[in-house]
Amino acid sequence: MAARRLHRGRELAIDLGTANTLVFVRGGGIAVFEPSVVAIDELSGRVQAVGEDARRMIGRTPASIRAIRPLRHGVIQDFDITAEMLRYFIRRIGGGALSFSRVVLCVPSGITAVERNAVEEATLAAGARTVSLIEEPMAAAIGAGLPVGEPQGSLIVDIGGGTTEVAVLALGGIVVWESVRVGGYELDEAIVRYVDATTNLLIGPETAEAAKLAAGSAWTLPEKIETDVAGRDRITGLLRRTTLDSDEVRSAIAQPLETIVETVRRTLEATPPELAADVASRGIVVAGGGALLRGIDRLLSAETGLPVLVADAPLQCVVLGAGASLEESAVAGRPRHRRRFRRRRSRGG
Ligand SMILES: Nc1ncnc2c1ncn2[C@@H]1O[C@H](COP(=O)(O)OP(=O)(O)OP(=O)(O)O)[C@@H](O)[C@H]1O
Ligand SMILES: [Mg+2]
Repeated sequence: MAARRLHRGRELAIDLGTANTLVFVRGGGIAVFEPSVVAIDELSGRVQAVGEDARRMIGRTPASIRAIRPLRHGVIQDFDITAEMLRYFIRRIGGGALSFSRVVLCVPSGITAVERNAVEEATLAAGARTVSLIEEPMAAAIGAGLPVGEPQGSLIVDIGGGTTEVAVLALGGIVVWESVRVGGYELDEAIVRYVDATTNLLIGPETAEAAKLAAGSAWTLPEKIETDVAGRDRITGLLRRTTLDSDEVRSAIAQPLETIVETVRRTLEATPPELAADVASRGIVVAGGGALLRGIDRLLSAETGLPVLVADAPLQCVVLGAGASLEESAVAGRPRHRRRFRRRRSRGG
């Protein structure tokens, strides 16, 4: 029995996001919740830091160290660095590579076969023995407690760092979905452009993100919030600070928010009438970090005329849903095996 348990190893669910990577260990809960960032020394090619430690280096690194986000819009940009990052997180959980038998990995619903292959290979390269994929909207909906297995339509909106995915689910499957390559980072970039255009101040994206967290909103707030940002004056070249208030931040991010709203509207238009009726009575559930933007529920509700709820743990619900799917075998498709393992098995049997 003990030997068998050892052989089976541990089971993990991984949400490999543009902004954050989360790892759930079956029976143990969320074990990793870190920014998807790797700092590399370009001279030696060696990894200097991963996760939060690496994130702190963004925009502050000496010439030879580069802080890299290996994913963009939910898909792998740099294969080796992604595999390196996963290996680091898996090692930190405290298992040697071979102690992980099975990994369920969350992927955006719109990825191509090539992108799908890349994430599977990166996970196998990081030490997983088998990897299965689960689509993010499905995982998010399970994690948010929606009744995805029932003959009832549920609409989930997942606003991540680099993508927004909208899906209607019923009877254990995705009926319609739309995705757009606009997420929290596009909001940050819009703030960078706004500050540049209005005050000739160049701020970094991390500063813009901090301003968004401090004073951002999608809907008029009862009281204005102010926040300070620092950057370089485009004309004098000197460092300078300025104050942004919540009305300014809201107008700065209005355009990418409108793109998100349009994506939700398009999904509703494509939803079969019976399911649309379910969604109309039960409402929309919002997940992902973007669900934490103040007033996002008010905006989506005003623009769709439907009730909107924010998921309980918007940043965690994708990995929690994938983790729950480890319990059942609700994961779509056959798992992919590591080649070495497959050979050994076929020789033995
Ligand atoms: N309180 C908040 N208000 C507004 N935005 C927030 C808040 N907290 C986090 N975010 C934003 O949420 C985004 C990260 O969300 P999340 O972790 O869901 O993305 P991800 O899953 O890594 O990305 P993706 O799913 O696109 O690959 C970041 O852009 C971050 O700025
Ligand atoms: Mg995500």
